[in-house]
Amino acid sequence: MKTATAWHLGIKDYLTISGSRQRPHLRRPNWVIVLVCFVSIFVVGVYKYWPRNSAACHIFFSGSCSKYDQVPIVPSRELTDEEIASQVVTREILMSSPVQSNNPKIAFMFLTPGPLPFETLWDKFFQGHDDKFTVYVHASREQPTNVSPYFVGRNIRSEKVAWGKISMVDAERRLLANALEDPDNQQFVLLSDSCVPLHNFDYVYNYLIFTNVSFLDCFDDPGPHGGGRYSEHMLPEIEYKDFRKGSQWFTLKRQHAILVVADGLYYRKFRLYCRPGMDGSNCYSDEHYLPTLFHMVDPGGIANWSVTYVDWSEGKWHPKSYWAHDVTNELLKNITALDYSLHVTSDKKKTKMINECVWNGTRRPCYLFARKFYPQALDKLMQLFSNYTVS
Ligand SMILES: *[C@@H]1O[C@H](CO)[C@@H](O)[C@H](O)[C@H]1NC(C)=O
Ligand SMILES: *[C@@H]1O[C@H](CO)[C@@H](O)[C@H](O)[C@H]1NC(C)=O
Ligand SMILES: *[C@@H]1O[C@H](CO)[C@@H](O)[C@H](O)[C@H]1NC(C)=O
Ligand SMILES: *[C@@H]1O[C@H](CO)[C@@H](O)[C@H](O)[C@H]1NC(C)=O
Ligand SMILES: *[C@@H]1O[C@H](CO)[C@@H](O)[C@H](O)[C@H]1NC(C)=O
Repeated sequence: MKTATAWHLGIKDYLTISGSRQRPHLRRPNWVIVLVCFVSIFVVGVYKYWPRNSAACHIFFSGSCSKYDQVPIVPSRELTDEEIASQVVTREILMSSPVQSNNPKIAFMFLTPGPLPFETLWDKFFQGHDDKFTVYVHASREQPTNVSPYFVGRNIRSEKVAWGKISMVDAERRLLANALEDPDNQQFVLLSDSCVPLHNFDYVYNYLIFTNVSFLDCFDDPGPHGGGRYSEHMLPEIEYKDFRKGSQWFTLKRQHAILVVADGLYYRKFRLYCRPGMDGSNCYSDEHYLPTLFHMVDPGGIANWSVTYVDWSEGKWHPKSYWAHDVTNELLKNITALDYSLHVTSDKKKTKMINECVWNGTRRPCYLFARKFYPQALDKLMQLFSNYTVS
């Protein structure tokens, strides 16, 4: 007993003081009983809280809890019927193995007010790959007349889209639902009328088909344009700590696309409580709904960056837009070489977060598409396309 640690000495001193002195032959059994009690309480505590509660993890194993911080925590409150139903459906969708298609295709979904200024560039991009993709166009203001056969008859039924409103998300869901009708579609790419391709078709196809994640942008911005847009009306389902931000331009793998059209619970929270003028701030569902949803239900299944490049470095309300004279081989080479993503918080600190782009475990360039280009840049892009897209 002399060599016992300070902790053991503490217990022993306690036992000595609390009356065991009179019956020295009972000292050891008492010591054991009390120790067993402590251990049982500890084990029960760990068993009860470990899988659900990262706070308990920190109490019991300070410093080694990072894994638990990333796993969505099952809340200790009683869930509503709808939440339980949603959890079950989500789990089933995520666990389902990808549909085995003999002819995997990519759905290119264009969200546009009217005509697509870069249709001829996309036509050039698609040529020779007819059975590997499908085009869907949601034209919300004006039905375009098409010049490329790949776009003829590809308009889906559309509705009006108001910038920053839930109708934007509705249009995304409408595109996904239409594209899901084709069981061969495995990745679902959302593009705007100002987007252009940065690589040739085969490069893009391999990048998107041989991956197991969705390229969805998602980061934690504590500033006014991030967390500042959160409304407590989203409780109890969506807590402040889970509120995320990210660019609207995603690619989703098939399970994730199904999950988005199946979700009613979180979608409704955003429709009601994330809109311009909500609680005195302007919340834009298209920048928060999908990042928050996937951060909550499948954080490991998203890449956390968007494969559509955009330049926010000027710090204005709108990103940099490129005129014809900006479009040079050097600009395109610069963009296609980028292999890290950059996020800047909107608080006073303007914290820069740089993340390497890792594809299937290997560092690779991040971007497949870029925005925003003015229509007058078309000719320049057409001239340069074959040059800048050589791998
Ligand atoms: C992805 O990585 C795994 C493990 O390193 C490897 O076996 C597989 O071939 C990779 N897939 C592609 C398409 O490169
Ligand atoms: C995707 O594949 C990578 C590399 O093979 C693996 O580490 C990762 O866990 C997989 N992610 C998902 C969501 O399956
Ligand atoms: C994306 O970020 C989340 C944390 O928000 C992390 O858990 C997840 O592993 C990241 N995804 C990948 C593919 O690294
Ligand atoms: C391309 O990148 C180089 C090196 O960072 C930079 O000096 C140059 O200004 C960039 N050019 C364009 C057109 O963006
Ligand atoms: C094509 O690319 C090469 C190498 O990147 C470059 O030297 C050449 O100037 C480019 N051609 C045009 C027309 O820009």
